[in-house]
Amino acid sequence: MIATRDDCLALDTRDSIAHLRDRFVLPAGINYLDGNSLGLLPKSVAPRLKQAIEHEWAQGLIRSWNDAGWYRAPQRVGAKIAKLIGAGAANVIVTDSTSVDLFKVLAAALRLHPGRSKILALNGDFPTDAYIAGGVARFSGARFVRVDANDLIAAIDDDVAIVSLTHVNYKSGLVHDLRALTQAAQAKGALIVWDLSHSTGIMPLSLEADGADFAVGCGYKYLNGGPGAPAYVFVAERHQEKFDHPLNGWLGHADPFAFAGDFAPAQGMDKLLTGTPPILSLLALDAALDAFDGVDMHTVRAKVESLTQTFVELAEERLLRHGFDLISPRAAKMRGGQVSLAHPEGYAIMQALIARGLIGDYRAPDIVRFGFAPLYTRHIDVFDAVAVIDDVMTARAWDTPQFKARKAVT
Ligand SMILES: Cc1ncc(COP(=O)(O)O)c(C=O)c1O
Repeated sequence: MIATRDDCLALDTRDSIAHLRDRFVLPAGINYLDGNSLGLLPKSVAPRLKQAIEHEWAQGLIRSWNDAGWYRAPQRVGAKIAKLIGAGAANVIVTDSTSVDLFKVLAAALRLHPGRSKILALNGDFPTDAYIAGGVARFSGARFVRVDANDLIAAIDDDVAIVSLTHVNYKSGLVHDLRALTQAAQAKGALIVWDLSHSTGIMPLSLEADGADFAVGCGYKYLNGGPGAPAYVFVAERHQEKFDHPLNGWLGHADPFAFAGDFAPAQGMDKLLTGTPPILSLLALDAALDAFDGVDMHTVRAKVESLTQTFVELAEERLLRHGFDLISPRAAKMRGGQVSLAHPEGYAIMQALIARGLIGDYRAPDIVRFGFAPLYTRHIDVFDAVAVIDDVMTARAWDTPQFKARKAVT
C-alpha cells in the first residue's frame, strides 16, 4: 500500500531504469502524464534534425536521398521498431499513418481470404480503426461487424476473413491477450490484425512468436517520434508474397526509378510504401527510438505496472470520493500504460488540471485519462498528480466558464 510521497520516492530510488528520464527534454513546471497521446521530446531528436536540415537538406539537397540514407529510412526505422514488437527486421516498415496502414492491411488481408466476407472488430475500439474497416468493407463488398468483447470468439464464424483488434483499448487501457486471441482467430480460419498504438514501447511484444498475421501502430505516443510521426506496419513473412493492397504508389514499385508505365510490386515489405515519405518526421522518429537503446522491455513493463498501481491505489484512497469512477482494470496485469477515471465534469476538470501544470487528456464523453510513460515518469509524479487532482476537486477549481469552453483538440 502506497501512503506517502516518501514511499513513492523509495520506489523511484529502487527503479533500475530511472536514468532513462535523462534522455528526454522535461518542460519546466509540468507534470506530464500524456505520453500515451504525444510522448516527450527525446534529447537525441533536435541534434539529428539540425543535421538533417542544415547539412542534408540545405547543403546536400537532392543528393541526400542517396548520400544521407533518406531513401532506405522507412526500412531502417522499421528494423528498429521490429525489435520492440518481436518481429524480424525485414518484416516491419515505417510509412504513412496508422489509419492508412490499416487500410492497406485490411484490404490486402481480404484478398488473402477470398472465400470469406466479414471484417470483425470490437465495439469501443479507437474510432479510426472502425472507420477504416467500414471504408474497406464498403469499397470491397465485404461486411464490417462489431461485437462486445465477451461475444468475440463466438462471433468468429466461417465467414470472418479478418479479426481486427486494438491490443490496448484507448479509453479503458484494458490489454487483450494477444497470443490467445491470435490463436483463437486462426483456429477458426480467420486472419488477425493488431493495432499496437497503445502497446509498443511499454511492454515486451512477441508478434512472431505469438503467430500474429499483421500489425500497425503509431510513432508519436510511447515511441516519442513527435507530432504526426509516421506509423509502422508488420506483415508476417508468410503473407508477404501474396500481399496485394490498393494504394500502389511509385515507391512500392519493384523499380521506382525505371518509371515504368505499369505497376509491378516490390518484394517484401517495400511494396507497402506508397508515396514520398516525410523525411524530417521519419528522421525524428529514428532518433527518438534511440531512447530505447539497451532497455529491457520486461523491466519497462514491471515499471508500468508499478506506476499505474500506485495511481490506482492513491485514486481509490483520495479521488473516488470526488465522484470519479475507475474505468481501467483493477488488476495491474490487465492494464496498459494508462489509468482512466470517469466524471461527468471530465472536460472542465482536465482543463483545470492542465492550468495547474498537470497534463493528461480527456476523452468524450466523460473520461480523464492519465498515461504513465515508463521511460520518464516517476512514482513521485504519480503522487503529485493525485495531490493536484484532489486539490482541484476539493476547491471545485474546474467549475468556471473558462474551463468548460471546449477547444478543438481535447
Ligand atoms: C488505437 C489507435 N489507433 C490509431 C490511432 C490514430 O491513428 P492515426 O495515427 O492514423 O491518426 C490512435 C490515436 O490515438 C489510436 O489510439
